[in-house]
Amino acid sequence: MKHTASKLFTALGAAVALSFSASALAQNPIVIKFSHVVAESTPKGQGALKFKEVAEQLLPGKVDVQVFPNSQLFGDAKEMEALLLGDVHIIAPSLSKFDRYTKKIQIFDLPFLFDDMDAVDRFQQSDAGKSLLDSMQNRGLQGLAYWHNGMKQLSTNKDELTRPEHVKGLKFRIQASDVLEEQFRALGANPQKLAFAEVYQALQTGVVDGQENTWSNIYSQKFHEVQKTIANTNHGVIDYMVVTNAQWWEGLPEDVRTGLQQAMEEATKHANGLAAELNERDRKRILEENKARVQELSREDIAAWRKAMEPVWAKFEGDIGADLIQSALSANEQ
Ligand code: LMR
Repeated sequence: MKHTASKLFTALGAAVALSFSASALAQNPIVIKFSHVVAESTPKGQGALKFKEVAEQLLPGKVDVQVFPNSQLFGDAKEMEALLLGDVHIIAPSLSKFDRYTKKIQIFDLPFLFDDMDAVDRFQQSDAGKSLLDSMQNRGLQGLAYWHNGMKQLSTNKDELTRPEHVKGLKFRIQASDVLEEQFRALGANPQKLAFAEVYQALQTGVVDGQENTWSNIYSQKFHEVQKTIANTNHGVIDYMVVTNAQWWEGLPEDVRTGLQQAMEEATKHANGLAAELNERDRKRILEENKARVQELSREDIAAWRKAMEPVWAKFEGDIGADLIQSALSANEQ
């Protein structure tokens, strides 16, 4: 009798525990931390906010998407590690920051590879481009989408910035990319890898003389306030891969993963639709504020930059693959 009562008690206890955890599950949405390093006013900042909005609309009560902009939670150096440890669930580093995980993605850093952002988009949407989203699964990373920012411009604390000889001997901040390191070496300049959050101060204090970035990043980080000249070089691209922890992603309930996929598609359309407009808006703001001089370049000037940076291609062709470079080049011709 005593035995039966204790069994009943245990069963009751288990039922209570079960219903408690079921209701806890119902009440506790899955927390999804999305961390990035730029301002909310930029294409990536806007994309992340759109993802939160749509995901929470599509999965009411099931997900709580928390967006951390401006390196608030993790900066460049730490965000990838944090993703792999599960401390953050979605990040969107620039394509220049993946070379420790796959050499192929270095393709996006080859100088003067893409004629414009339409060509970048065509390559990303091609089979070759899409396959790169899955190329880091063996390292625990799953690519979810490409997001655009825009073409890079060069800036320095010097008055003259039309030709490659004007940057000889200058120190430039670069993203953590071996291709970009080589690009500045080819120019006879001294590249220094620095996290994005440290760039403003490095420019202000003269630790570096210059940097390369998009109009939206230059404006939102106020680089134009601590640089004298910005040359309209369009010599490369800053775009992003939105990535997640592959194991975490696969472990999500099916309906949640499907909803998040849909939210990601909508956020991608939103961010990519806005990118050109936001960069153009910020280019105009920089012109209006007139703190740094914006230097337009002639065709001959551009040809000189192109020629000076050309040796970089041969150095990385082996790692990237000649066929992949060919696919990217063919995106220019359509
Ligand atoms: C940079 O480090 O300059 C950029 O990649 C920052 C960003 O995410 O746009």
